[in-house]
Amino acid sequence: MEEGARAEALLLRNVSPPGALPGCIVASPSLSNPDYYYHWVRDSGIAMRAVLSLYHSARTLAARQRYLGLLLSFVDFSRHIQRTATTHGIGLGEPKFTVGGEPYSGIWARPQDDGPAIRAIELIELAFTLLDEGEGALVREKLYDGRLPTDSVIKADLEYVAHRWSETCFDVWEEIRGHHFATQHLERSALVDGAELATKLGDTGAATFYVEQSRLMEPRLREYWDPRKGYIVATRDPDTGERSGLDSAVIIATLIGDSIDGVLQHKHLSAVDHERVLTTIVALEQVFATLYPINDPSRKLPGIAIGRYPEDRYDGYHTNSVGNPWFGITVSFAMFYYKLVRRYRKLQSIAVTDTSIPFLRRLASSIRRPLRPGEVLAPGDPDFDETLAALGRRGDTFLQRVRCHIGPEGSMDEQLNRVTGFQQGAADLSANYAVFLRAAEARRAVHALDPWPAP
Ligand code: NOJ
Ligand code: NOJ
Repeated sequence: MEEGARAEALLLRNVSPPGALPGCIVASPSLSNPDYYYHWVRDSGIAMRAVLSLYHSARTLAARQRYLGLLLSFVDFSRHIQRTATTHGIGLGEPKFTVGGEPYSGIWARPQDDGPAIRAIELIELAFTLLDEGEGALVREKLYDGRLPTDSVIKADLEYVAHRWSETCFDVWEEIRGHHFATQHLERSALVDGAELATKLGDTGAATFYVEQSRLMEPRLREYWDPRKGYIVATRDPDTGERSGLDSAVIIATLIGDSIDGVLQHKHLSAVDHERVLTTIVALEQVFATLYPINDPSRKLPGIAIGRYPEDRYDGYHTNSVGNPWFGITVSFAMFYYKLVRRYRKLQSIAVTDTSIPFLRRLASSIRRPLRPGEVLAPGDPDFDETLAALGRRGDTFLQRVRCHIGPEGSMDEQLNRVTGFQQGAADLSANYAVFLRAAEARRAVHALDPWPAP
């Protein structure tokens, strides 16, 4: 079976598994060491977006109906857990639910406000898809009813985000309380996209409010840039610990909060082509290239295996250990390069700035001229084409790398051991398969008909 088909099969095994309520997506089938058999709002939002891609590209009516059924049951399950969370007094920031649709009752890092933002971003894509297909009534009934109090999933998430974004919460890795670039970037994207949907559905008062809140967030988001360090710092006002602030969550947020089809793209300081994002990528790649033995050039493996953040101590089982590279994050880096190609193609220009030069220079020795700040590479210039080609090739190195570590049946667990490269942590992580499918899709758009590079 081809890799994409295997990833799809393994992802779908985690959607509405036997015994779970329909529409529940478990983060992993693993029931112990670690127990990931829960519907995490974050992970399931990411998984659901891949199902939407499958729906878009389905070739038969039966396949389309099957995916649509999964999407709509996810919508119902999501609305159910939103209500449950509220009656438990936890609000929508509750990060994980049992497969029976109850909030997890143990001690946990809560709230985690990226979850509602991710779910809103992904479901807004679904809403626009359904509107295009003439399903306005369905959208108004289940997704966005334009009423207050609302009984629809997107509006409930947007109201939560619009009123909560300035508060502290736990980060996407469920460890630190503070203000987080990733969370706030996702929240802002949800509000910008949400305002577009609200406008389209005639809920103009809400649209204005969401836009106002998103504007208020912009100066806050700029505060994460640390000119001395030269990268976007993940967390401000953290409650614990000493960290460099260098964190892959920053990159992942720019990928989720930026839809690939261009319908909802917005020019923004954390867009994939922003100079500060580019220089953060350089810093992350450098730190992980030297931190993990598996990345040592003597191993002769393609690309770089990427982890969460350099000080990570979670090995997939315990948090007093050493951190490892993660499958899904490494795949996300491939995705980043593919998205950047598409962005530059769309912009028809590449801006060269003091801050972006290190990123661009590293790409290709084949770029002929010495790059100078202020310069713009444009179509017709061989260095423009060469830069795009080099970005595509670099994206491929991350996918090639992941393919060195994938299990024989296509399995992708949470992490890969920093020394041996073998998989470890929660088995068959839904988010891994989802990100892999999305990256393969992004790759097809970049390389058109090129075959996969050999591992
Ligand atoms: C600790 C990890 O560091 C954190 O990221 C994770 O979410 C929890 N354990 C649950 O596995
Ligand atoms: C740990 C990760 O840190 C977190 O982001 C994720 O939601 C959970 N595992 C579940 O996969």
